[in-house]
Amino acid sequence: MRVALLGAGTIARLFLDHIRRGDLGDDVEVVAIAGRSAASRGRVLARDYDVPFTVDIESLISQKPDVVVEAASHEAVREYCQPLLAKGIGVIVLSGGALCDDELRSSLEHAARQSGALFYVPSGGIAGLDALKAACVAGVDEVKITVMKPPAAWKNIQYVEQLAIDLDRLTEPHILYEGTARGGVPLFPANVNIAAVLSMAGIGFDRTRLKVLADPALKHNTHMIEIRGKTGNISIKVENVPAPDNPKTAWLACYSALAALKLAKSPIRYGT
Ligand SMILES: NC(=O)c1ccc[n+]([C@@H]2O[C@H](COP(=O)([O-])OP(=O)(O)OC[C@H]3O[C@@H](n4cnc5c(N)ncnc54)[C@H](O)[C@@H]3O)[C@@H](O)[C@H]2O)c1
Repeated sequence: MRVALLGAGTIARLFLDHIRRGDLGDDVEVVAIAGRSAASRGRVLARDYDVPFTVDIESLISQKPDVVVEAASHEAVREYCQPLLAKGIGVIVLSGGALCDDELRSSLEHAARQSGALFYVPSGGIAGLDALKAACVAGVDEVKITVMKPPAAWKNIQYVEQLAIDLDRLTEPHILYEGTARGGVPLFPANVNIAAVLSMAGIGFDRTRLKVLADPALKHNTHMIEIRGKTGNISIKVENVPAPDNPKTAWLACYSALAALKLAKSPIRYGT
């Protein structure tokens, strides 16, 4: 399988380490790393791993990947995914929050259906989507997710800055957002992708409820998911270790990308 990486940050580096160690088998080859510009750190990463570096869609496609793992940004999803899918190249999307835009999501779904290419948004930093999908077949009334992270994880976000809260001085949990996933996901472009995948796997952005908290007592990024429906009630608590160099990104999300690729290249499924 010829794999390309879109993005050269925390997830991309972990991904490359595992592939180089052969953890996904010797039939997986990284054929390109796509970065934002010729001067980006992607160039250094590509050199370290001896992989071609690209900065535009055409040169990425010219490396003939079977699948591109997007670990970059909402903007990268908007720029790259449709042309890749239209060319029959699969995409595994980590920045799922971009898909809160119905028009974009429909265009990607359409391109995937037309070309037959894989369009895969993995679970990222949460659990329970298998049960949610099963429950939805019967009927689900309510899905709620509470995303709680230490205050540092909420820095440098325009919406949070507008709230004018001193994140360094919080002494108790502070609610940053409470409402629909539709309203909340775009406010946190790099932090609540999990609420997007939960919405898409379940009852949609308008019916999924999202609560976002900064909690100074937390060491782990913690997510509570509650589902109520005809098959019963499900409550899930996920405590994620943040990546050391990036408190916004959970290790579990990094490994979710690797697991997605493993799944994509195998006809055998255990669990959903
Ligand atoms: N689904 C989940 O559970 C989950 C969890 C963690 C992170 N994420 C998302 O995955 C993405 C990657 O996470 P990360 O921790 O590796 O981030 P990071 O900030 O460490 O790295 C992102 C990299 O992508 C590059 N990039 C951004 N926009 C680009 C573009 N338009 N074209 C090319 N390169 C671009 C950046 O320059 C950087 O190298 C982020 O969008 C993040 O929000 C999703």
